[in-house]
Amino acid sequence: MRSPRVPRSILFVCLGNICRSPAAEIVFRHQVTAIGREHDFHIDSAGIIGHHHGSPPDPRMSEALQRRGFPVTGRARKIHSTDLQTFDLIVTMDETNFADVRGLDPGGSNHNKIRPFMSFCRRHSDPRVPDPYYGGQRGFDHVIDLLEDGCEGILAVTADG
Ligand code: 4NP
Repeated sequence: MRSPRVPRSILFVCLGNICRSPAAEIVFRHQVTAIGREHDFHIDSAGIIGHHHGSPPDPRMSEALQRRGFPVTGRARKIHSTDLQTFDLIVTMDETNFADVRGLDPGGSNHNKIRPFMSFCRRHSDPRVPDPYYGGQRGFDHVIDLLEDGCEGILAVTADG
Protein backbone atom coordinates (compact mmCIF):
# COMPACT_ATOMS: atom_id res chain seq x y z
CA MET A 1 0.00 0.00 0.00
CA ARG A 2 1.47 3.30 -1.06
CA SER A 3 1.67 5.92 1.64
CA PRO A 4 0.58 9.39 0.53
CA ARG A 5 3.53 10.82 2.43
CA VAL A 6 6.10 9.01 0.26
CA PRO A 7 7.13 11.09 -2.77
CA ARG A 8 7.02 9.33 -6.09
CA SER A 9 6.90 12.16 -8.63
CA ILE A 10 9.86 14.45 -8.29
CA LEU A 11 10.56 17.75 -10.05
CA PHE A 12 14.05 19.28 -9.87
CA VAL A 13 14.16 23.05 -10.33
CA CYS A 14 16.96 25.52 -11.07
CA LEU A 15 17.12 28.86 -12.86
CA GLY A 16 17.68 27.94 -16.52
CA ASN A 17 16.96 24.17 -16.61
CA ILE A 18 20.08 23.59 -18.70
CA CYS A 19 22.72 22.89 -16.01
CA ARG A 20 21.80 21.84 -12.46
CA SER A 21 18.23 20.56 -12.59
CA PRO A 22 18.52 18.49 -15.81
CA ALA A 23 21.68 16.97 -14.34
CA ALA A 24 19.81 16.16 -11.12
CA GLU A 25 17.08 14.51 -13.18
CA ILE A 26 19.69 12.46 -15.06
CA VAL A 27 21.62 11.45 -11.93
CA PHE A 28 18.49 10.48 -10.00
CA ARG A 29 17.08 8.49 -12.94
CA HIS A 30 20.42 6.71 -13.29
CA GLN A 31 20.39 5.78 -9.59
CA VAL A 32 16.83 4.46 -9.57
CA THR A 33 17.44 2.55 -12.82
CA ALA A 34 20.55 0.95 -11.30
CA ILE A 35 18.36 -0.62 -8.60
CA GLY A 36 15.51 -1.53 -10.98
CA ARG A 37 13.10 1.09 -9.60
CA GLU A 38 12.73 3.34 -12.64
CA HIS A 39 9.03 2.51 -12.94
CA ASP A 40 8.36 3.64 -9.37
CA PHE A 41 9.21 7.28 -10.12
CA HIS A 42 8.15 10.07 -12.41
CA ILE A 43 11.20 12.33 -12.68
CA ASP A 44 11.31 15.71 -14.40
CA SER A 45 13.06 19.07 -14.22
CA ALA A 46 12.18 22.68 -14.98
CA GLY A 47 13.59 26.19 -14.85
CA ILE A 48 12.37 29.39 -13.26
CA ILE A 49 13.04 31.22 -16.54
CA GLY A 50 11.89 30.08 -19.96
CA HIS A 51 14.84 31.57 -21.80
CA HIS A 52 16.31 28.17 -22.75
CA HIS A 53 12.99 26.46 -23.49
CA GLY A 54 13.54 23.44 -25.76
CA SER A 55 17.32 23.42 -25.36
CA PRO A 56 19.32 20.33 -24.37
CA PRO A 57 21.56 20.51 -21.30
CA ASP A 58 24.52 22.92 -21.50
CA PRO A 59 27.43 21.29 -23.41
CA ARG A 60 29.77 21.75 -20.43
CA MET A 61 27.33 19.91 -18.16
CA SER A 62 26.76 17.25 -20.81
CA GLU A 63 30.52 16.70 -21.10
CA ALA A 64 30.94 16.37 -17.33
CA LEU A 65 27.98 13.96 -17.07
CA GLN A 66 29.12 11.79 -19.97
CA ARG A 67 32.65 11.61 -18.59
CA ARG A 68 31.14 10.01 -15.47
CA GLY A 69 28.99 7.61 -17.48
CA PHE A 70 25.62 9.35 -17.28
CA PRO A 71 23.52 9.31 -20.45
CA VAL A 72 22.43 12.86 -21.30
CA THR A 73 18.80 13.48 -22.24
CA GLY A 74 16.18 16.16 -21.78
CA ARG A 75 14.99 19.50 -23.09
CA ALA A 76 14.54 22.61 -20.98
CA ARG A 77 11.13 23.87 -19.98
CA LYS A 78 9.82 26.54 -17.68
CA ILE A 79 8.10 25.59 -14.44
CA HIS A 80 4.35 26.14 -14.33
CA SER A 81 2.26 26.81 -11.25
CA THR A 82 0.33 23.58 -11.94
CA ASP A 83 3.57 21.65 -11.33
CA LEU A 84 3.10 22.36 -7.64
CA GLN A 85 -0.12 20.37 -7.70
CA THR A 86 1.13 17.61 -10.02
CA PHE A 87 4.38 16.69 -8.31
CA ASP A 88 4.82 15.07 -4.89
CA LEU A 89 8.21 16.64 -4.27
CA ILE A 90 9.81 19.75 -5.79
CA VAL A 91 13.53 20.06 -5.14
CA THR A 92 15.24 23.43 -5.61
CA MET A 93 18.93 24.04 -6.18
CA ASP A 94 19.43 27.35 -4.36
CA GLU A 95 17.67 29.84 -2.10
CA THR A 96 16.47 31.99 -4.99
CA ASN A 97 14.91 29.03 -6.78
CA PHE A 98 13.27 28.03 -3.49
CA ALA A 99 11.75 31.48 -3.00
CA ASP A 100 10.67 31.70 -6.64
CA VAL A 101 8.90 28.32 -6.55
CA ARG A 102 7.14 29.25 -3.30
CA GLY A 103 6.03 32.42 -5.04
CA LEU A 104 4.16 30.33 -7.62
CA ASP A 105 1.90 29.12 -4.79
CA PRO A 106 0.81 32.27 -2.95
CA GLY A 107 -1.80 30.36 -0.96
CA GLY A 108 0.92 28.11 0.40
CA SER A 109 -1.07 24.88 0.19
CA ASN A 110 1.82 23.08 -1.54
CA HIS A 111 4.75 24.74 0.22
CA ASN A 112 5.42 21.56 2.17
CA LYS A 113 6.39 19.83 -1.09
CA ILE A 114 9.20 22.31 -1.84
CA ARG A 115 12.57 21.26 -0.41
CA PRO A 116 16.14 22.54 -0.87
CA PHE A 117 18.27 19.96 -2.66
CA MET A 118 21.08 20.33 -0.12
CA SER A 119 18.76 19.16 2.66
CA PHE A 120 19.07 15.65 1.19
CA CYS A 121 22.88 15.60 1.06
CA ARG A 122 24.61 13.42 3.64
CA ARG A 123 28.29 13.98 2.77
CA HIS A 124 28.32 17.64 1.71
CA SER A 125 27.34 20.67 3.77
CA ASP A 126 27.46 23.36 1.06
CA PRO A 127 24.63 25.87 1.53
CA ARG A 128 23.38 25.45 -2.04
CA VAL A 129 24.02 23.77 -5.38
CA PRO A 130 25.96 26.68 -6.94
CA ASP A 131 25.06 28.03 -10.35
CA PRO A 132 27.92 26.82 -12.61
CA TYR A 133 26.79 28.74 -15.70
CA TYR A 134 29.31 31.59 -15.54
CA GLY A 135 32.17 29.55 -14.07
CA GLY A 136 34.68 26.98 -15.33
CA GLN A 137 34.46 23.25 -15.95
CA ARG A 138 35.38 22.40 -12.35
CA GLY A 139 32.13 24.00 -11.21
CA PHE A 140 30.19 21.47 -13.24
CA ASP A 141 32.10 18.57 -11.69
CA HIS A 142 31.41 19.92 -8.20
CA VAL A 143 27.70 20.22 -9.02
CA ILE A 144 27.65 16.55 -10.03
CA ASP A 145 29.40 15.59 -6.75
CA LEU A 146 26.60 17.33 -4.86
CA LEU A 147 23.90 15.85 -7.08
CA GLU A 148 25.13 12.29 -6.56
CA ASP A 149 25.09 12.81 -2.80
CA GLY A 150 21.65 14.44 -2.62
CA CYS A 151 20.01 12.06 -5.08
CA GLU A 152 21.18 9.15 -2.93
CA GLY A 153 19.58 10.95 0.00
CA ILE A 154 16.30 11.41 -1.87
CA LEU A 155 16.33 7.75 -2.81
CA ALA A 156 16.95 6.80 0.81
CA VAL A 157 13.83 8.67 1.99
CA THR A 158 11.71 7.19 -0.81
CA ALA A 159 13.07 3.64 -0.56
CA ASP A 160 10.27 1.98 1.38
CA GLY A 161 8.70 0.22 -1.55
P1 4NP B 1 21.04 26.44 -14.30
O1 4NP B 1 22.19 27.43 -14.86
O2 4NP B 1 20.08 27.29 -13.51
O3 4NP B 1 21.80 25.48 -13.44
O4 4NP B 1 20.42 25.81 -15.52
C1 4NP B 1 21.88 28.60 -15.57
C2 4NP B 1 21.61 28.53 -16.92
C3 4NP B 1 21.31 29.68 -17.62
C4 4NP B 1 21.29 30.90 -16.97
C5 4NP B 1 21.55 30.96 -15.61
C6 4NP B 1 21.82 29.80 -14.90
N1 4NP B 1 21.00 32.07 -17.68
O5 4NP B 1 21.01 33.16 -17.07
O6 4NP B 1 20.72 32.02 -18.89
